[in-house]
Amino acid sequence: MYRLVDGKGRARLAVVTGGAGGIGAATCRRLAEAGAAVLVTDVQTAAGESLAAELRSAGHPAWYHDLDVGSEDAWRRVRQAGLSLHGRASILVNNAGIDVVRDMAGTSLADWDRLFRVNSTGMFLGMKEFADDLHEEAVETGQLSSVVNMSSICGLIGVAFQVAYCATKGSVRLMSKAAALEYAALGKKIRVNSIHPGTVDTAFAAQCLKELGEVGFAPSPEEARAAIARAHPIGHMADPYEIADAIVFLASDASRFLTGSELTPDGGYTAQ
Ligand SMILES: NC(=O)c1ccc[n+]([C@@H]2O[C@H](COP(=O)([O-])OP(=O)(O)OC[C@H]3O[C@@H](n4cnc5c(N)ncnc54)[C@H](O)[C@@H]3O)[C@@H](O)[C@H]2O)c1
Repeated sequence: MYRLVDGKGRARLAVVTGGAGGIGAATCRRLAEAGAAVLVTDVQTAAGESLAAELRSAGHPAWYHDLDVGSEDAWRRVRQAGLSLHGRASILVNNAGIDVVRDMAGTSLADWDRLFRVNSTGMFLGMKEFADDLHEEAVETGQLSSVVNMSSICGLIGVAFQVAYCATKGSVRLMSKAAALEYAALGKKIRVNSIHPGTVDTAFAAQCLKELGEVGFAPSPEEARAAIARAHPIGHMADPYEIADAIVFLASDASRFLTGSELTPDGGYTAQ
């Protein structure tokens, strides 16, 4: 079990975007169990508040704050909230993401822009807003801060009917590497890594499977689900906690020599 505390035993502050559901919620639970103070952020206020209350009732320091990741002003408010609730962040998990499964002809410019705003611009804004705090906290504690950017297997390989999504997730991969190198060049004590899960059993995946059925990939969501499970050599889709555990590793000092790298918890999907 990794310990997300500083040298004085004080909880490190982790900010998680898209934290109210799916992989984000599993990540908030795992970060809290590892000793972090967790600032859950999302656009789903009720679900986010409920998760923060659940974590507090289990004895963990945790709060919820609204954050639409595409809004620079909202990022500023979240940073201020974190500073007054706990102090400077040392972990940023840029997890929020959306998808559209559609052929290219049917993908509108509005779809394209919407996906880039959340999946790519949101991560750029988050790193910009928190860079100084992440660095200063690391200087004070002597522990490198960590940014984990959520990409996908779709950021490593092309997937049919996901042109816009693959474009956004590919951008996350190289944005993360460029940021990691820039921070290193500037002497900023911040590691940046991207994570590339295979299909994870969340509401997001259920919607993708439904849309795959609609574009003719499989006659029914059940058959699309079975085909997707078979496509992962390990034999099943991931449980969100299988990804959350990998994120906690990247957040923790156990991965302290990793920066600009890619972690690929994909059940062997991209090894084929
Ligand atoms: N589920 C998968 O198969 C899978 C695979 C690889 C990568 N991913 C990525 O993992 C991340 C989480 O996916 P998930 O499966 O948990 O999805 P999910 O839909 O269950 O959760 C995504 C969360 O992001 C939030 N969100 C949406 N728009 C937002 C915005 N503008 N600002 C802030 N939050 C916003 C949603 O409210 C939701 O709580 C995404 O980036 C996704 O692309 C998912």
